[in-house]
Amino acid sequence: MKIDCRVCGGVVETAVDLGRQPMANGFLRPDQRDTEHFFDLAIGMCERCTTVQLMEEVPQEMRYHSAYRYQASGSVGHRRHFAAIARHFLDQELLGPDPLIVEIGCNDGVMLETIARAGVRHLGVEPSGNVAAVARSKGVRVREDFFDEATGRDIRRTDGPADVVFGANTICHIAHVHSLFAGIDELLSDRGVFVFEEPYLGTIIGRTAFDQIYDEHVFYFTVRAMHAIARQFGFEVVDAEHIAMHGGSIRYTLARPGRRPVAARVGELLAQERAAGLAERATLQRFDATISGLRVELVELLRSLRSAGRRVVGYGAPGKSTTVTNFCGIGPDLIPYIVDSTPEKQGHLLPGTHIPVLAPEAFSEDPPDHAVLFSWNHAAEITAKESAFAAAGGRWITYVPRVAVT
Ligand code: SAM
Ligand code: TMP
Ligand code: ZN
Repeated sequence: MKIDCRVCGGVVETAVDLGRQPMANGFLRPDQRDTEHFFDLAIGMCERCTTVQLMEEVPQEMRYHSAYRYQASGSVGHRRHFAAIARHFLDQELLGPDPLIVEIGCNDGVMLETIARAGVRHLGVEPSGNVAAVARSKGVRVREDFFDEATGRDIRRTDGPADVVFGANTICHIAHVHSLFAGIDELLSDRGVFVFEEPYLGTIIGRTAFDQIYDEHVFYFTVRAMHAIARQFGFEVVDAEHIAMHGGSIRYTLARPGRRPVAARVGELLAQERAAGLAERATLQRFDATISGLRVELVELLRSLRSAGRRVVGYGAPGKSTTVTNFCGIGPDLIPYIVDSTPEKQGHLLPGTHIPVLAPEAFSEDPPDHAVLFSWNHAAEITAKESAFAAAGGRWITYVPRVAVT
């Protein structure tokens, strides 16, 4: 299959195919099991600008609405991370007479609550009404909307230019990239910065983190692709740094050309990406073969444990777990339930494979023999919280970067 690149119009051909999949956060009530939307989950790389992207997309209104299940404040690690970036903005960027910071995709206010407490002018733009309401309850000012060119222009009119526009795990969700950057152009002050943190193609390939591929992640950025994207829309990448979030993301800083010095590490990352072949289609094709092998290994492990009479359950039901279970064909016969701390997911079924999601008490009160750690990016927090499981002989199963029992 081929499509036109959403960024530059170049040719994008399928390179990694994960088959028919439901929406990653489309958790179902038991009576909704026949109402799911499926699509072909596959990615390809633009021959011209090298941006990796979904071949087929799910309309944004189907993904983000008032029953959106992802709550950003769900882990101690996330709360700390976003409080730290908020303090960084307060100390380094929001120092003028009446500064303004706008966050695209503020979710439950995990970052902006620190800004609100400091009494600094801010606005969150968040289309999912349920999480927007949680942010408001924390004193965060929210506009319930999708960010695009019209939204950016409107905010400029009502609030004036923004010193910082921030997004985390949101910019790669926005398919209308032309309208997004037109909106940033409307909104950003002359010396302002557009800072965003997104899953990194280098991590997905380097750590075999194929479970980051799902409907919400329309783009899989590299510094090289971001360089081309920024230039196309009249901006410049002035910084790019690795951060630990979601197993390894990149925080990009864009500014209007020539307004800010370019950090040396941008060039270093570009060189590392060249060495890793991140702009080559053959790298994606090798990755496709690697994950097919991983699928066989994981399913064989689960089948052999079942034959040996071992009880195996899942721990954590992030969007990533939808990709893994659907790609591998793992259903309730191999994993009878998954526990997750998000109240909105409990009592629901995992999309596609319909594995029931229960509260974490189900795990601690009746520990299984093995647990597949789907929330592998929160491994330290979860294994510490559930230390009694391993102490009693329970074993964790992980599959990133390879299938392992610890
Ligand atoms: N920023 C939080 C974090 O990093 O944990 C939340 C990330 S969550 C995965 C993505 C958020 O982006 C969702 O709350 C979704 O509703 C929001 N979103 C999606 N498209 C958007 C758009 N066009 N404009 C603003 N927000 C959007
Ligand atoms: P994320 O990787 O997208 O942040 O999603 C993490 C998921 O893992 C979310 O559904 C909440 C769940 N989780 C737990 O169930 N227990 C925990 O201790 C942590 C940290 C996360
Ligand atoms: Zn392109």
